Amino acid sequence: TITAADSPSKRSLIVVSNRLPFVLKKAADGRMTRLASAGGLVTAVAPVVIKGKGLWVGWPGLHLPKDFNDANIPESDPSDQSPTAGLKSEQVVTVNCDPDLFEMYYNGCCNGTHWPLFHSMPGRTIFSADHWRAYVKVNKLFAEKTVDALERCSQNKGNNGVPIVWIHDYHLMLCANYIRELAEEKNIEFQLAFFLHIPFPPWDIFRLFPWSDEILQGMLGCDMVGFHIRDYCLNFVDCCQRNLGCRVDRKNLLVEHGGRSVRVRPLPIGIPFDRFVELATKAKKVIKTKHKVILGVDRLDYTKGLVNRLKAFEVFLERHPEHIGTVSFLQIAVPSRTDVLEYQQLKEEMDQLVGRINGRFSTAIWSPIRYIFGCVGQSELAAYYRDAAVALVTPLRDGMNLVAKEFVACQINEPPGVLIVSPFAGAGETMHEALLCNPYELDAAAEVINRALTMPVDERTLRMSRLRRREKEHDVDHWMRSFMKAMGSDVEEDDIGTTR
Ligand code: ADP
Ligand code: G6P
Repeated sequence: TITAADSPSKRSLIVVSNRLPFVLKKAADGRMTRLASAGGLVTAVAPVVIKGKGLWVGWPGLHLPKDFNDANIPESDPSDQSPTAGLKSEQVVTVNCDPDLFEMYYNGCCNGTHWPLFHSMPGRTIFSADHWRAYVKVNKLFAEKTVDALERCSQNKGNNGVPIVWIHDYHLMLCANYIRELAEEKNIEFQLAFFLHIPFPPWDIFRLFPWSDEILQGMLGCDMVGFHIRDYCLNFVDCCQRNLGCRVDRKNLLVEHGGRSVRVRPLPIGIPFDRFVELATKAKKVIKTKHKVILGVDRLDYTKGLVNRLKAFEVFLERHPEHIGTVSFLQIAVPSRTDVLEYQQLKEEMDQLVGRINGRFSTAIWSPIRYIFGCVGQSELAAYYRDAAVALVTPLRDGMNLVAKEFVACQINEPPGVLIVSPFAGAGETMHEALLCNPYELDAAAEVINRALTMPVDERTLRMSRLRRREKEHDVDHWMRSFMKAMGSDVEEDDIGTTR
């Protein structure tokens, strides 16, 4: 419980996530350097951790020697403009574990089981007792490191109020109870929160997982559990009732468990809207063709619906040959989880499909698809978003999808472009003025593409201005404030807002 005397800005925040906000890289001369990780979580949370002198517990992206001391983490480079630049090495707690164990936990359980299952793709899900055991062990390791961090916080006399431990995502769903046990032995006070960045599936999918009770008990170890949208909250509440027999209150989103009442909250994430506007304003032109560009930007992941998207574009070219030679589809796909077979197979399938469609429709001076397999910098990305006529954000399933929001923020040109979004992404639930497109329905998707390309200017302008207004208001700082409120704590304006 928090007393009125608690000064919110002085409450320490300990963030726990699988990845740290930067990865450590070994340079050729053996020196260790920091490379900022991008993404909503980092941009949202880093300023609060930095200002509040909080701590971040996570995996540094490489396997460090057993005797590695966190004091040897390098400070950020003076030229580093990323949101994590101000995070001091003393604010970082690395979790280091045996490479074989980590492989079974990360690629086995997190990427091979939780990721597909929580995206309602049981056909792609591997169930393995060995992977599960590794997941349990690694969650314990994260919990031990978190309790070390809590001890450090409680020794810091400048902090008053109860520290908040905020656990993120499907990698760490068991951490909470281990943290509780260890910290209570040491008489450390704290509050625990969890946020899931991916969907929470309906009960008939979730219960396929042989250890689903343990997952729920793990999440219920927190005082508050957050999801992007209300539907995921309701799925979670439903699973708690049906799997564990918990008493639940659907209206107020409460679950009774172990004598405690756990709050379940929809907390839709936002983006650093103003930062993207600034990037888009300053970015140099990268799209230099006269053709209208339909843009896709994603990690190369089977949940993103890339194969369906290419097939829908092919149907569009068949049904609307009037666009041939005037429109091209640019897909930028970042390599992701390349050690996992499913991702390797997807890469092959994409290469073949792009080749086939380009072979079928290209002329001597035009090809329908441009495909970049790689990561582009944020400023370049903002230029692509700004100058695209249409963004195709059509995942088969997605927790929220930040790309849809980033595109909207960068639409500063007059007249603006059009956003197409899948109803199976959290963004499809909240971005009401976008055109909806079911990625499984190829003919209809082709017609939505045509509608976007031929939409009258007035309609485009009205839709985009409403989308932009909402995203500006519900930006990442708003998300952070909503989280603090859900924890019963307000944040002083000055403690957030550094994302601009
Ligand atoms: P996910 O979290 O599943 O990857 P999101 O759309 O929510 O999906 O977030 C993806 C983030 O990664 C966005 O911030 C986006 O800008 C960034 N990103 C995605 N693809 C690329 C790319 N090809 N190059 C650079 N950044 C990318
Ligand atoms: C999604 C997950 C994140 C994850 C990211 C990149 O956004 O919600 O937790 O960090 O994908 O995946 P990776 O496996 O490279 O960390």
